[in-house]
Amino acid sequence: MKIAIGADHGGYELKESIKSFLESCGDYEVTDYGTFSPEAVDYPDIAYKVGKAVTSQEGSLGILCCGTGIGISIAANKVKGVRAACCSDYFSAKYTRMHNNANILCLGGRVIGPGLANELVNVFLNTGFEGGGRHQRRIDKITAIENENI
Ligand code: RB5
Repeated sequence: MKIAIGADHGGYELKESIKSFLESCGDYEVTDYGTFSPEAVDYPDIAYKVGKAVTSQEGSLGILCCGTGIGISIAANKVKGVRAACCSDYFSAKYTRMHNNANILCLGGRVIGPGLANELVNVFLNTGFEGGGRHQRRIDKITAIENENI
C-alpha cells in the first residue's frame, strides 16, 4: 500500500518516528513529503502536497502531523477528495476508516506519544471502509458540498 506522510515542525519528530515504524513493517511504500528538519514551516504547504498525493493515487492513504494535528487536518480537508481525520484515540482512528472512509490520519506531535501514534496508524491503515448504503450516502453528501452541488 502507498502511504504519503508529512508534517510541519510541530509534528516533525512524530513523523520521523512513524516513518521508521512503517518502514519496519515492510508492507508499505512510504513517500515522505517533508518537512525534513525541526525548522519552522507552514503546515498548509505540507497538507497540500500529501492531500494531492493521496487523491491522485487510487487506494493510497496519508499520515499528517503538526503540533495539535488540527491545523494540518483543516488544511488537508480543503483539497478536493480528501477526508482527513484528526484522532488521538483508537476508536476514532478505526471508525473514521469504517464509517467516513477517511483517507488521511492527522496526529498531534504535541498531543500524543510515539507508542500511541503507532497504534493509531496501524489500525487506520488496516481497517477498511464498511461501505453499505448509509455510510456511502453520507460521504456522497460530503462530496456534493465539496462540489457546491447541493
Ligand atoms: C505550529 O507552532 C503549530 O501551530 C502547528 O504545528 C499546529 O499545531 C497547528 O494546528
